[in-house]
Amino acid sequence: MSAKKRTRRGLFIVLEGIDGSGTTTQIGQIMEWMRKRGELALATAQPTAGPIGSMLRLVLNQRLVSRVHKSGAEPVDPAAVALLFAADRLDHLQHTIRPALESGRHVVCDRYVLSSLAYQSLDTDLRFVRQINEKALAPDLTIFLRVNPDVAMARINASRVERDTFEQLAVQRRVAAAYDKLLTSYRDGTVVDVNGENSLSTVTTDVRQAVERLLD
Ligand code: TYD
Repeated sequence: MSAKKRTRRGLFIVLEGIDGSGTTTQIGQIMEWMRKRGELALATAQPTAGPIGSMLRLVLNQRLVSRVHKSGAEPVDPAAVALLFAADRLDHLQHTIRPALESGRHVVCDRYVLSSLAYQSLDTDLRFVRQINEKALAPDLTIFLRVNPDVAMARINASRVERDTFEQLAVQRRVAAAYDKLLTSYRDGTVVDVNGENSLSTVTTDVRQAVERLLD
C-alpha cells in the first residue's frame, strides 16, 4: 500500500474544566455535529469505566462520603490516587484511544492529563504528577471550558443531591486556580480557552469553531 493510501490518523480532542463546567454536554454537541459532517468519532472519558477507572470511582466516592458524613475509612494516599489516574490513562490509551485514532476515527475525551495536573497537584507534587503522565500521548487540541467556581457549584447543586457546599466550593476554587496557572504554559495553540458561562448555543458554537479549525 502506498503511503498516500494509508489510513489518516484521527484527531485527538480533549475537553477540560472544573466540575460543573459542562464538558460532558459539549462532548455530546461535538459528537452530533461530527456525525452530521460525516466524521467518524468516538466519545470517551476519564476516569474510564474500565477496571482502574472503576477503582478510582470507588476512591472518589469514599472521599465524598467521609467528607459529608465525617466518617468512613482513611482516605487513599493522594500520590496513590495520582498513580491510579495515570494508570487508567495509559490503559485507556492502549485499549481505546490509540486503536481508534489509528483506524482513522477522531477521539473526543472528557478530561485527560490536564485534569491530573490540576486536581492531583492540590495534594501531590506537580512534578511527580507530570512525571507519571509522561508516557501519555499529547492531544491535538484541548478545549478548556472556563466557568467561575461559584457558577459551576450552583449548576452542580441544582442537579445533584447532598454536597458539602462550602468545602466543595473551596476545592473548586483551588482547582480553577491550578488550571489557570497551568494554562499559561501552553503557548503552542493546542489549548483553546472557551467562555463556558455563555448560553449553551454560544458555547457550542465556540467549541465547534475550535474543532473546525483543526479539521480543515
Ligand atoms: P468526572 O467523571 O468528570 O466527574 P463526574 O463523575 O461528576 O462526571 O470526573 C470525576 C472526578 O475526577 C472529577 O472531580 C475530576 C476528577 N479527576 C481527577 O482528579 N484527576 C484526573 O486525572 C481526572 C481524569 C479526573
